[in-house]
Amino acid sequence: MITTKMQGFYREKNKIFTENLCKGCKVYNERLIKIKGKEYRSWNPYRSKLAAAILNGLSININSNSNFLYLGAATGTTVSHISDILNEGLVYSVESSPIAVKKFIQVCEKRKNIIPILEDANHPDRYSSIVPIVDFVYQDISQRNQAEIFIENIERYLKKDGFGIIMVKARSIDVSLEPKKAFDIICSKLEENGLKILKRINLKPYEKDHSAIMISI
Ligand SMILES: C[S@@+](CC[C@H](N)C(=O)[O-])C[C@H]1O[C@@H](n2cnc3c(N)ncnc32)[C@H](O)[C@@H]1O
Repeated sequence: MITTKMQGFYREKNKIFTENLCKGCKVYNERLIKIKGKEYRSWNPYRSKLAAAILNGLSININSNSNFLYLGAATGTTVSHISDILNEGLVYSVESSPIAVKKFIQVCEKRKNIIPILEDANHPDRYSSIVPIVDFVYQDISQRNQAEIFIENIERYLKKDGFGIIMVKARSIDVSLEPKKAFDIICSKLEENGLKILKRINLKPYEKDHSAIMISI
Protein backbone atom coordinates (compact mmCIF):
# COMPACT_ATOMS: atom_id res chain seq x y z
CA MET A 1 0.00 0.00 0.00
CA ILE A 2 1.46 3.36 -0.98
CA THR A 3 0.23 6.61 0.52
CA THR A 4 0.92 10.27 -0.09
CA LYS A 5 2.00 11.71 3.24
CA MET A 6 5.04 13.76 2.62
CA GLN A 7 6.46 16.00 5.26
CA GLY A 8 7.50 19.32 3.73
CA PHE A 9 4.98 18.89 0.91
CA TYR A 10 1.88 21.00 0.40
CA ARG A 11 -0.91 20.65 -2.15
CA GLU A 12 -3.61 23.11 -3.11
CA LYS A 13 -5.84 21.75 -5.92
CA ASN A 14 -3.56 21.55 -8.98
CA LYS A 15 -0.62 23.37 -7.38
CA ILE A 16 2.07 21.70 -5.33
CA PHE A 17 4.83 23.15 -3.15
CA THR A 18 7.75 21.94 -1.05
CA GLU A 19 9.01 23.59 2.12
CA ASN A 20 12.19 25.45 1.23
CA LEU A 21 15.25 23.89 2.86
CA CYS A 22 17.32 26.94 1.97
CA LYS A 23 15.31 29.97 3.07
CA GLY A 24 15.14 32.71 0.46
CA CYS A 25 16.96 30.61 -2.16
CA LYS A 26 15.54 29.73 -5.57
CA VAL A 27 16.82 26.94 -7.82
CA TYR A 28 15.01 27.84 -11.07
CA ASN A 29 12.20 30.33 -11.72
CA GLU A 30 9.93 28.93 -9.00
CA ARG A 31 7.80 31.14 -6.77
CA LEU A 32 8.48 31.47 -3.05
CA ILE A 33 5.37 31.77 -0.88
CA LYS A 34 4.58 31.78 2.84
CA ILE A 35 2.06 29.26 4.20
CA LYS A 36 1.39 29.26 7.96
CA GLY A 37 4.72 30.98 8.64
CA LYS A 38 6.77 28.53 6.53
CA GLU A 39 8.44 29.29 3.22
CA TYR A 40 7.47 27.04 0.31
CA ARG A 41 8.71 26.77 -3.29
CA SER A 42 6.21 26.14 -6.07
CA TRP A 43 6.95 22.82 -7.82
CA ASN A 44 6.47 23.41 -11.54
CA PRO A 45 5.03 20.37 -13.42
CA TYR A 46 6.24 21.82 -16.73
CA ARG A 47 9.82 21.76 -15.39
CA SER A 48 9.73 18.60 -13.28
CA LYS A 49 8.28 15.27 -14.42
CA LEU A 50 7.92 14.13 -10.82
CA ALA A 51 5.64 17.10 -10.13
CA ALA A 52 3.67 16.27 -13.30
CA ALA A 53 3.32 12.64 -12.20
CA ILE A 54 2.14 13.61 -8.70
CA LEU A 55 -0.45 16.01 -10.17
CA ASN A 56 -1.60 13.22 -12.51
CA GLY A 57 -2.12 10.77 -9.64
CA LEU A 58 1.25 9.29 -8.65
CA SER A 59 1.03 8.49 -4.97
CA ILE A 60 4.32 8.06 -3.15
CA ASN A 61 5.36 8.19 0.45
CA ILE A 62 8.76 9.80 0.81
CA ASN A 63 9.80 9.62 4.46
CA SER A 64 12.04 12.37 5.72
CA ASN A 65 14.80 9.77 6.23
CA SER A 66 14.43 8.06 2.81
CA ASN A 67 17.53 7.72 0.65
CA PHE A 68 17.30 8.28 -3.10
CA LEU A 69 19.45 7.29 -6.01
CA TYR A 70 18.58 9.85 -8.69
CA LEU A 71 19.85 9.16 -12.23
CA GLY A 72 19.94 12.13 -14.62
CA ALA A 73 20.05 15.00 -12.13
CA ALA A 74 20.76 17.71 -14.77
CA THR A 75 21.02 21.07 -12.96
CA GLY A 76 18.94 19.90 -9.99
CA THR A 77 15.40 21.15 -10.59
CA THR A 78 13.62 17.99 -9.40
CA VAL A 79 16.43 16.92 -7.06
CA SER A 80 16.02 20.19 -5.15
CA HIS A 81 12.35 19.45 -4.41
CA ILE A 82 13.22 15.96 -3.17
CA SER A 83 15.92 17.61 -1.04
CA ASP A 84 13.21 19.87 0.46
CA ILE A 85 11.13 16.85 1.49
CA LEU A 86 14.00 14.84 3.00
CA ASN A 87 15.38 15.59 6.41
CA GLU A 88 17.86 12.92 7.41
CA GLY A 89 17.80 11.14 4.05
CA LEU A 90 20.16 11.86 1.15
CA VAL A 91 19.73 12.20 -2.63
CA TYR A 92 22.67 10.55 -4.39
CA SER A 93 22.45 12.35 -7.71
CA VAL A 94 24.19 10.98 -10.80
CA GLU A 95 24.69 13.20 -13.84
CA SER A 96 27.04 12.60 -16.78
CA SER A 97 27.24 16.12 -18.21
CA PRO A 98 30.08 18.19 -16.71
CA ILE A 99 28.34 21.39 -17.87
CA ALA A 100 25.12 20.49 -15.99
CA VAL A 101 27.09 19.38 -12.92
CA LYS A 102 28.96 22.69 -12.78
CA LYS A 103 25.61 24.47 -12.29
CA PHE A 104 24.21 21.68 -10.11
CA ILE A 105 27.14 22.04 -7.66
CA GLN A 106 25.87 25.53 -6.79
CA VAL A 107 22.56 23.97 -5.68
CA CYS A 108 24.39 21.26 -3.69
CA GLU A 109 26.51 23.82 -1.83
CA LYS A 110 23.34 25.18 -0.21
CA ARG A 111 21.72 21.78 0.37
CA LYS A 112 23.76 19.33 2.38
CA ASN A 113 21.42 16.38 1.71
CA ILE A 114 22.39 16.19 -1.99
CA ILE A 115 25.46 14.17 -2.99
CA PRO A 116 26.41 15.08 -6.59
CA ILE A 117 28.11 12.35 -8.62
CA LEU A 118 29.59 13.14 -12.04
CA GLU A 119 29.27 9.71 -13.64
CA ASP A 120 27.64 7.67 -16.38
CA ALA A 121 24.66 5.72 -14.99
CA ASN A 122 25.49 2.92 -17.46
CA HIS A 123 28.23 1.95 -15.00
CA PRO A 124 26.65 1.61 -11.55
CA ASP A 125 29.78 -0.08 -10.20
CA ARG A 126 31.66 3.22 -10.56
CA TYR A 127 29.73 4.83 -7.70
CA SER A 128 29.47 1.82 -5.40
CA SER A 129 31.93 3.37 -2.94
CA ILE A 130 29.55 6.34 -2.48
CA VAL A 131 25.99 5.04 -2.89
CA PRO A 132 24.42 2.68 -0.29
CA ILE A 133 21.29 0.54 -0.67
CA VAL A 134 18.45 3.05 -1.13
CA ASP A 135 14.67 3.35 -0.67
CA PHE A 136 14.03 4.85 -4.12
CA VAL A 137 15.74 4.65 -7.48
CA TYR A 138 14.51 7.48 -9.72
CA GLN A 139 15.53 7.76 -13.33
CA ASP A 140 15.02 10.57 -15.83
CA ILE A 141 17.45 9.80 -18.63
CA SER A 142 16.03 10.02 -22.14
CA GLN A 143 18.18 7.32 -23.72
CA ARG A 144 17.21 4.39 -25.90
CA ASN A 145 18.68 1.95 -23.34
CA GLN A 146 17.11 3.70 -20.35
CA ALA A 147 15.26 0.55 -19.20
CA GLU A 148 18.54 -1.39 -19.05
CA ILE A 149 20.24 1.44 -17.10
CA PHE A 150 17.30 1.53 -14.67
CA ILE A 151 17.28 -2.26 -14.16
CA GLU A 152 21.04 -2.43 -13.51
CA ASN A 153 20.84 0.34 -10.92
CA ILE A 154 17.77 -1.22 -9.27
CA GLU A 155 19.50 -4.62 -9.05
CA ARG A 156 22.53 -3.04 -7.46
CA TYR A 157 21.05 -0.38 -5.18
CA LEU A 158 17.32 -0.75 -4.46
CA LYS A 159 16.34 -2.32 -1.14
CA LYS A 160 13.83 -5.22 -1.15
CA ASP A 161 10.79 -3.16 -0.15
CA GLY A 162 11.90 -0.06 -2.07
CA PHE A 163 10.37 1.63 -5.11
CA GLY A 164 11.61 2.71 -8.50
CA ILE A 165 10.28 5.43 -10.79
CA ILE A 166 11.31 5.73 -14.42
CA MET A 167 10.33 8.65 -16.65
CA VAL A 168 9.98 7.46 -20.22
CA LYS A 169 10.00 9.66 -23.32
CA ALA A 170 8.42 7.59 -26.10
CA ARG A 171 10.45 9.21 -28.88
CA SER A 172 13.73 8.27 -27.20
CA ILE A 173 12.75 4.61 -27.34
CA ASP A 174 11.71 4.59 -31.01
CA VAL A 175 10.48 7.63 -32.99
CA SER A 176 8.54 5.41 -35.37
CA LEU A 177 6.39 3.83 -32.64
CA GLU A 178 3.07 4.97 -31.21
CA PRO A 179 3.87 6.28 -27.67
CA LYS A 180 1.67 3.60 -26.06
CA LYS A 181 3.61 0.86 -27.83
CA ALA A 182 6.94 2.36 -26.65
CA PHE A 183 5.66 2.42 -23.03
CA ASP A 184 4.46 -1.20 -23.43
CA ILE A 185 7.95 -2.24 -24.57
CA ILE A 186 9.55 -0.61 -21.50
CA CYS A 187 7.01 -2.23 -19.16
CA SER A 188 7.63 -5.67 -20.73
CA LYS A 189 11.40 -5.26 -20.29
CA LEU A 190 10.94 -4.31 -16.64
CA GLU A 191 8.61 -7.27 -16.02
CA GLU A 192 10.94 -9.70 -17.81
CA ASN A 193 13.58 -8.65 -15.30
CA GLY A 194 11.37 -9.42 -12.33
CA LEU A 195 10.09 -5.92 -11.57
CA LYS A 196 6.42 -5.37 -10.71
CA ILE A 197 4.64 -2.49 -12.45
CA LEU A 198 2.65 -0.62 -9.78
CA LYS A 199 1.48 2.37 -11.76
CA ARG A 200 1.81 3.87 -15.22
CA ILE A 201 0.94 7.54 -15.56
CA ASN A 202 0.80 9.67 -18.69
CA LEU A 203 2.33 13.12 -18.09
CA LYS A 204 -0.11 15.03 -20.36
CA PRO A 205 -0.63 18.01 -20.49
CA TYR A 206 2.70 18.88 -18.85
CA GLU A 207 4.90 16.70 -21.09
CA LYS A 208 4.00 15.31 -24.51
CA ASP A 209 4.37 11.53 -25.03
CA HIS A 210 5.95 10.86 -21.63
CA SER A 211 4.97 8.34 -18.97
CA ALA A 212 6.02 7.78 -15.39
CA ILE A 213 6.27 4.09 -14.46
CA MET A 214 6.49 3.09 -10.84
CA ILE A 215 7.84 -0.34 -9.87
CA SER A 216 8.65 -2.50 -6.88
CA ILE A 217 10.80 -5.63 -6.70
C1 LIG B 1 15.70 15.15 -18.98
S1 LIG B 1 17.20 15.61 -18.23
C2 LIG B 1 16.88 15.44 -16.50
C3 LIG B 1 16.06 16.54 -15.86
C4 LIG B 1 16.02 16.38 -14.34
N1 LIG B 1 15.73 15.03 -13.96
C5 LIG B 1 15.02 17.28 -13.67
O1 LIG B 1 13.83 16.93 -13.58
O2 LIG B 1 15.42 18.33 -13.16
C6 LIG B 1 18.18 14.19 -18.52
C7 LIG B 1 19.59 14.27 -17.94
O3 LIG B 1 20.18 12.98 -17.98
C8 LIG B 1 21.56 13.15 -18.21
N2 LIG B 1 22.08 11.86 -18.72
C9 LIG B 1 21.92 11.32 -19.97
N3 LIG B 1 22.54 10.13 -20.04
C10 LIG B 1 23.07 9.89 -18.81
C11 LIG B 1 23.82 8.82 -18.25
N4 LIG B 1 24.13 7.74 -18.97
N5 LIG B 1 24.23 8.91 -16.97
C12 LIG B 1 23.91 10.00 -16.22
N6 LIG B 1 23.20 11.05 -16.69
C13 LIG B 1 22.79 11.00 -17.97
C14 LIG B 1 21.62 14.29 -19.22
O4 LIG B 1 22.91 14.88 -19.24
C15 LIG B 1 20.52 15.20 -18.70
O5 LIG B 1 21.05 16.18 -17.84
